[in-house]
Amino acid sequence: MQEIVDSIYHEMRARTERGKVANYIPQLACVDPNQFALTVVTQDGQVFNAGCAETLFSIQSISKVFTLTIALGKMGDTLWTRVGREPSGDPFNSIVQLEHEGGIPRNPFINAGAIAVADAVMGHNAPKETLAEILHFVRFVANDDSISIDEKVAQSEMKTGSRNASLAHFMASFKRLDNPVDSVLGTYFHHCSISMSTEQLAKAGMFLVSNGTNHCTGVRVVPEHRARRINSLMLMCGHYDGSGEFAYRVGLPGKSGVGGGILAIAPGKASIAVWSPGLDKIGNSKLGTEALEMLVQRTGWSIF
Ligand code: DON
Repeated sequence: MQEIVDSIYHEMRARTERGKVANYIPQLACVDPNQFALTVVTQDGQVFNAGCAETLFSIQSISKVFTLTIALGKMGDTLWTRVGREPSGDPFNSIVQLEHEGGIPRNPFINAGAIAVADAVMGHNAPKETLAEILHFVRFVANDDSISIDEKVAQSEMKTGSRNASLAHFMASFKRLDNPVDSVLGTYFHHCSISMSTEQLAKAGMFLVSNGTNHCTGVRVVPEHRARRINSLMLMCGHYDGSGEFAYRVGLPGKSGVGGGILAIAPGKASIAVWSPGLDKIGNSKLGTEALEMLVQRTGWSIF
């Protein structure tokens, strides 16, 4: 496995077409696009790293996998009265479907859906307590207490978050949020600003590899059926309007973030995290996707 991971890293290092870093969040625009990291953690807990696998990056929308998991833990299937589970076929920050669909977002991974999930996670708690709970969960699944929120990224998002504010206000106009818009947005921006390395992220995905249990630690995080459903949502919706393309090229449940990270799950095999900050036109990591495509070709891990 180390040979495969190293060979992918060497191929990616040589690439000149690396995509463009996100610039609508100013703090992300400063990130050096020449960085690349890949971590594979196999079901038995072996860790294979290449590139800057210990460098922290902004996980952004990948955090939505963790907030979804927490929300399902809190309210189970009732969550599906607040958010759908269909692919949207629209960009991650789109508002158009909300108007025709009663302010209920299509799925938990588009921004509107994740804002609704953040509201659900809050219950009646303040943003500070909710964020402590989210961080506690991420640290628990990654088995790493050092994971934290990058406040500079959160402030940067807050200052430039008019689109997300519009989505939240629009949902509030349909009475779809229980908490004040500003509190929900504060929670959402901050959980998107969690920083992790590919090694930490791949470890955090381990519970989705083995039916809800981390095979190495023996700790059950979610029931088996829930792990299967989270994976299916990642496959169908994890890359927004690029989800079909990702399923076609990679064939694994995956969740991207605009920081250039992707968490991909090979059920029964491995948890994989890749990071390359340059994005394709849809907003998913360009080299990250290419690296996963190669990994799957070389391992035969596609679920299809
Ligand atoms: O709300 C936003 O726009 C960002 N915090 C997250 C978007 C994102 O990561 C899209 N993913 N590729």
